[in-house]
Amino acid sequence: MSKSGASQSGGEGEVITILLVDDIPDTLENIKKLISFEQDMKVVGTARTGTEGVSMAKELRPNIIIMDINMPDMDGIQATTLITEAVPTVAVIMMSVQNDPDYLRRAMLAGARNFLTKPIEMDELYNTIRTVHARNKPIAAQYAAVEGAAELRPKMANRQANERAGHIITVYSPQGGVGTTTIATSVASGLMKEGSKVLLVDADLQFGDISIVLNLQTQSTMVELIPDVDDLDTELFENIVATHDSGLKVLLGPKRPEFAEEVENNPEALAQILKKIAGHYDFIVIDTSTRLDDLLLALFDLSAKIVMVCTPTIPSVKNVRLVLDLFDKLKYPLDKVMLAVNRVPDDRQGKRSAVSLEKISDFLKRPVVTAIPSNEQIVNRAINKAVPVVASERDKSKSPIKELLDLSEAVYSDLVGEDEPELEPEEDPRKKPSGLRLRLGR
Ligand SMILES: Nc1ncnc2c1ncn2[C@@H]1O[C@H](COP(=O)(O)OP(=O)(O)O)[C@@H](O)[C@H]1O
Ligand SMILES: [Mg+2]
Repeated sequence: MSKSGASQSGGEGEVITILLVDDIPDTLENIKKLISFEQDMKVVGTARTGTEGVSMAKELRPNIIIMDINMPDMDGIQATTLITEAVPTVAVIMMSVQNDPDYLRRAMLAGARNFLTKPIEMDELYNTIRTVHARNKPIAAQYAAVEGAAELRPKMANRQANERAGHIITVYSPQGGVGTTTIATSVASGLMKEGSKVLLVDADLQFGDISIVLNLQTQSTMVELIPDVDDLDTELFENIVATHDSGLKVLLGPKRPEFAEEVENNPEALAQILKKIAGHYDFIVIDTSTRLDDLLLALFDLSAKIVMVCTPTIPSVKNVRLVLDLFDKLKYPLDKVMLAVNRVPDDRQGKRSAVSLEKISDFLKRPVVTAIPSNEQIVNRAINKAVPVVASERDKSKSPIKELLDLSEAVYSDLVGEDEPELEPEEDPRKKPSGLRLRLGR
């Protein structure tokens, strides 16, 4: 095993970092020599076995691995399977003596991105490395964002005085009109306790409703932050953020649908801004539109929790299932998603025609965290008062205020609870999952 140089690449004069894995020393030397002639690529390590390749991949996290398919001990296919799972940012190029279609197919399934045939031709080597790297960059950036988001959440215990936890919670539904905005405003409001600083973000870029439902008139919106995204001034950010009477901070979306493009044209920008600003808030709650695009995916990646909203109807549940399947593919942990069923009928007739919570939970393979009943009167009154539903009445035991508060409590304890020292459940019943929190299907 030998290694050299940094494993990072990026910025100007970007250098593609490469790990070579082959059991034949001559091949390693040859490829290394060829690569040394090029300015934009560098061999940062060489491994002689599959096992060594896997451990060096984890340690060096290169951009590219050039992997021999035939090796004693662990072959290139097995090593690639392990590497793509452990280091998803890396792209593997498989090398073999001849183009055996079955080998190639298996290599593809293991996660290889391209192939080189021995003996290696100089130009083909350079082209393949550059092409694979260019294609892999956006994918690697997505994974890096997930990792970055995890690092972003410092443990409560060692957080500095002005450095807040910055938990990001995205509220989403693939269907419109199901209560996403209602739930986002209420969860944000519910999280404002014990001095927590909360930011509500309207990422429904074309038809965001937050400025209406909370009656926030302001000239400034997130559109103004976009030109400065690479060099965001936190003071500018604070000036742009609106403050609701309740103290809730709100980052409003574009004022008109046609201005949405400015934000959408740079799908990473909003996530980048929130990442930068997260340390100034305890919680950031994001309201979204139904549109599943790159911008939304970047927000999902960044989020510690995704509150997935559905109604007890077949189309709504079906669409949520499609999104959850996507999350599985993205390898999001199961507990990243909190399922909220809204507009649950409480009269017998309505219940009969609705899909039951048990069925929803079974079909979506996740527990329903909160079932929120319909109550037009209370919800509409809150809109008229321009306050979140949970802040609209003194009596917090009324539905759906009670259930919306349960949901925000569940979010709070999932995010903050885990950073606190564990208490024996018998000794502290408050630590148990709230009885109001329905945990079905388990
Ligand atoms: N639990 C509820 N009971 C009664 N009406 C609700 C409830 N949740 C949402 N609504 C109403 O449904 C409509 C859509 O809600 P909204 O939060 O704007 O959904 P979305 O953001 O998903 O489009 C609004 O008129 C809202 O007042
Ligand atoms: Mg909405």
